[in-house]
Amino acid sequence: MTTPIRIGALISGTGSNLDAIMAACESGGINGRVVFAGADNPSAAGLKKAENRGIPTFVVDYSGIIRSYKADPDPARLPADFNEADIRTRQHLAGDSDRLRTFLQTRAIAEAALLEQMAACPFDLLVLAGFMRNLTPYFIDRVNTEENRPRIMNIHPALLPAFAGTDGYGDTFRYGCRIGGCTVHFIDYGEDSGPIIGQRCFAIKEGDTLETVKKKGLALEWELYPECIRLFAENRLQTVKMTWTLPDGKVTQRNVVRIVD
Ligand code: GRF
Repeated sequence: MTTPIRIGALISGTGSNLDAIMAACESGGINGRVVFAGADNPSAAGLKKAENRGIPTFVVDYSGIIRSYKADPDPARLPADFNEADIRTRQHLAGDSDRLRTFLQTRAIAEAALLEQMAACPFDLLVLAGFMRNLTPYFIDRVNTEENRPRIMNIHPALLPAFAGTDGYGDTFRYGCRIGGCTVHFIDYGEDSGPIIGQRCFAIKEGDTLETVKKKGLALEWELYPECIRLFAENRLQTVKMTWTLPDGKVTQRNVVRIVD
């Protein structure tokens, strides 16, 4: 039996995935325990779900931080270890130069506050469970400190790489897809672009609405996320860099996850 893992969670809303993860830890489905739940806004209902189980919670008010920095963009407010030029070379998010600057600066302030809160509760795995903020390399590199050992997971409401972004089920439904699904992946420097760990799919039939699509998808999320975390806890996820030669002769590389026995 391996040592139980310590799981940190970040949420923005209802926290039904967090609930499923906490329940799986309690029932022994995951060999681990949730050590904190943090949110980017004080009204995230999922915080209460964690508190009810005696799990420490915290809030880093992203909206307040962004508003206040835009009103007074004093560089002295940036974290002392923030190096914008360096972060720019690594991040893969789009945006024109000025908007990107504001984005990277405000997120660094918020992410430094997250890291400070998280420092009180050491963790092995960080799960994003409906956390509706893109993380920048400032944060990612301070959590992923070992090469080829990513430890930030996310759940996305679509079959990636289709429909990245904030409304996966809505985009799937409006596109007229016959199949929808959800994906658990490790975070990298892009938006919903990191190595895929697991996926589940469901049929979209005549008569389905956006509401029924979301319902079907969420029910699968609650199974898939604990299952992927269980694999992490069993040390069965290996990230490897694959090199492929495409039909036109170009060579491409991608990190992929291998599930080992
Ligand atoms: C889920 O659909 C998840 O895939 C997406 O946001 C939703 C969060 O739901 N990222 P909940 O807060 O876990 O109930």
